[in-house]
Amino acid sequence: MNQQSAAVKGPTVSDLKRQAAYYAVATFIQSGMVIGLGTGSTAHYALEAIAQRLRDGDLHNIVGIPTSRQTAATARALHIPLGCLRDFPVVDVTIDGADEVDRNLNLIKGRGGALLWEKIVAAASRRKVIIIDETKRVSCLGTRSPLPIEVVPFGWEIHLSFLERLGGIPELRLNEITGDPFITDSGHYIIDCRFPNGILNPTGLAEALNTRPGIVEHGLFLDMATTVVVGTDGGVKVFNRG
Ligand code: A5P
Repeated sequence: MNQQSAAVKGPTVSDLKRQAAYYAVATFIQSGMVIGLGTGSTAHYALEAIAQRLRDGDLHNIVGIPTSRQTAATARALHIPLGCLRDFPVVDVTIDGADEVDRNLNLIKGRGGALLWEKIVAAASRRKVIIIDETKRVSCLGTRSPLPIEVVPFGWEIHLSFLERLGGIPELRLNEITGDPFITDSGHYIIDCRFPNGILNPTGLAEALNTRPGIVEHGLFLDMATTVVVGTDGGVKVFNRG
């Protein structure tokens, strides 16, 4: 690579995720905290940043509450102390990624398949910090990412026509390697539902999904995020609710 092409190369999406994660861990995490540990590639950088601060002696006496088995395994490998909600029912801060964030700081989460545990940990958290790269900001939820919906395997097929009636295009998520249905950490399936025109009424859709027997949870995280940290070409931007 010559000097000129090196000079014009901007940050990658991974760089932006890392930037947001390291900023959030430096700004919102303190010693003595119970910390919700998110799932996904952006949250992975937050785990690295926490581990770095522990190694540097800058952070002590923390407990991490993982939002997936994958995150628990990564945290253990990084020597981050872990606990569970039974012993630590109040989480000081959760740092997690998202698939989409709109202007009202409403989110779609769950591409990584961990939306149920993520929502449970979020509900137990005093502060929810979402870390994203700038490509995930949208004016209307559903325009970039499908909505993941976690369902009980029994009778999952009956949700397809229900979701179509709600304007969606549903598809059962498959394990990319085996081709079998993807199984969540709680033993459920996930239906990814695309909304070609976006989700025009997220609250109404969430209510419809919340009352449907067999639908365990969905990836609409409405009125939940306290703070959104965005990694951008021009540096980190922070948005706070209210
Ligand atoms: C995990 O189930 C998800 O909610 C992730 O937090 C979300 O999909 C973002 O993942 P990435 O940080 O890998 O884009």
